[in-house]
Amino acid sequence: MRYAAITGCGMAVPDRVLTNAELEKMVDTNDEWIVSRTGIRERRVAGPADSTTSLSVKAARAALAHAGLTPDDIQLIVVATCTPDQFIVSEACLVQAELGGSAAAFDVGAACSGFVYALTVGSMFVQQGLYDRVLVIGADTLTRFIDYTDRSTCILFGDGAGAMVIEASDQPRGLLSTVMGADGGGNKHLYAPGWGAIVPESAELFPEIRPYMQMNGQEVFRFAVRVMGDAAAEAVQKAGLSFDDIDMLIPHQANSRIIDAAARRLALPREKVLVNLDRYGNTSAASVPIALAEASGQGKLNEGDNLVLVAFGAGLAWAAGVVRWGVAGVPRPELAARRGAGVLAAISDGD
Ligand SMILES: CC(C)(COP(=O)(O)OP(=O)(O)OC[C@H]1O[C@@H](n2cnc3c(N)ncnc32)[C@H](O)[C@@H]1OP(=O)(O)O)[C@@H](O)C(=O)NCCC(=O)NCCS
Repeated sequence: MRYAAITGCGMAVPDRVLTNAELEKMVDTNDEWIVSRTGIRERRVAGPADSTTSLSVKAARAALAHAGLTPDDIQLIVVATCTPDQFIVSEACLVQAELGGSAAAFDVGAACSGFVYALTVGSMFVQQGLYDRVLVIGADTLTRFIDYTDRSTCILFGDGAGAMVIEASDQPRGLLSTVMGADGGGNKHLYAPGWGAIVPESAELFPEIRPYMQMNGQEVFRFAVRVMGDAAAEAVQKAGLSFDDIDMLIPHQANSRIIDAAARRLALPREKVLVNLDRYGNTSAASVPIALAEASGQGKLNEGDNLVLVAFGAGLAWAAGVVRWGVAGVPRPELAARRGAGVLAAISDGD
């Protein structure tokens, strides 16, 4: 059997911090409401010098350093994003141009679920034997499409990128199971109109179609609570594990009440649930890999740990997977030595 171990991870967020106190001056909201309804205290917002590409490249370099590899070692780059810097060409090609190397490169579009979709795609290439080393990135700069006069959405989102290197292993490491799903009929609950190739029905309508995120928060909330718990539970079962075997839940960081519901469904205590949305808000496709990179950088993950990744978002789409952490079975003895030397704790790139 060939498996696809995660051998490196990294993250990057913009420097600019947008606090709840600042939002109070922009829209009719308050810190108490935002924290009690969402758990978010601050988020990072891309400045003029930041882009989906620049954040992706920083996260990718951190992941490669963690794995002890260079861009020339990578054979495929998959980027999950719904906010590429350009539509033509792919975000993955823009990232490859900055990184160097000659890896094949393409994007996966599944909004906030995108990273788990992309990890599945990248892992399949490794498991099937087509490639030995793949770079998977989740990156978004959604704040470029947020209306900062709309209090129902502007409090939620932040920007960032997370990256992982996956490599062939002969031991059960990396993604052990995946559950993916979509309800395209629910697209109207979370979307950004006027941001694509479609021609508006009438030129007069065009000015009314704003390229801003539109959201029916309550519908998305109900959907998220249902699919996060169900998908995570199904992924655990598909991996042949029980809830007791799970060492950590790494959920999409959208809302602490949604995360709590998913944790309850898996009967996981609070200390086994990774939450960092208080500092980053909802970073879309970047949220799961940022959380994972932080957990790794803080030394919270151990060889052989079973992690559940789960995400939901626009589509409406969702995805969950069980990942077994560690580098056992990767034919690079120096990798285990690097872990032993404490490289594990040096990956986070929060610049
Ligand atoms: C958006 C969300 C936080 C709103 O929380 P909620 O408890 O559902 O709140 P409601 O929409 O019912 O609004 C309750 C009241 O708060 C008000 N309100 C909405 N946003 C507010 C804000 N930022 N500050 C203060 N009040 C706000 C509403 O206008 C409403 O007032 P009303 O009762 O006078 O009509 C919540 O629905 C949510 O997180 N949904 C999921 C969104 C999500 O995760 N999207 C991304 C998916 S990847």
